[in-house]
Amino acid sequence: MLCIVPAYADGPDRGRALFEPCRACHTLDPNAQPTAGPNLAGLLGRRVAGDSEFDYSPVLRQARAEERRWNRAMLDSFLTDPEAMFPGMWMTGRRIGDAAERKALAGFLADPASR
Ligand code: HEC
Repeated sequence: MLCIVPAYADGPDRGRALFEPCRACHTLDPNAQPTAGPNLAGLLGRRVAGDSEFDYSPVLRQARAEERRWNRAMLDSFLTDPEAMFPGMWMTGRRIGDAAERKALAGFLADPASR
């Protein structure tokens, strides 16, 4: 039996779609200036608060001073509840409760160019 899974159900396209609302404040173009939020190009492996053009909140600047870096596990907890990870940060109300959605979004952010 043939089983056809729509491309949007999972993986790259889903991650791209989930990132759409984030584009209101975040760009993924490495050459673009930050907008309302920091540039997220190359986020995975980058230091927290790593956009040198963006003026971050104290809690994120503190994390940068501690040399914390974004990896998949950290991004997953962040997407679950950003404020729980960084109390007082300037990005609120962006929780993603669905683990599969977080995974797809983190996958997209890890490598947006290939998607
Ligand atoms: C209304 C604007 C807005 C929206 C929409 C938004 N963000 Fe943010 N985001 C911000 C701001 C502002 C900051 C910096 C917060 C600070 O300095 O405390 C930030 C910070 C971040 C950071 C940390 C960046 C770094 O350099 O370490 C990540 C990751 C992030 N956002 C991901 C997302 C994702 C994923 C979405 C969509 C689900 C999203 N954001 C939606 C405004 C927004």
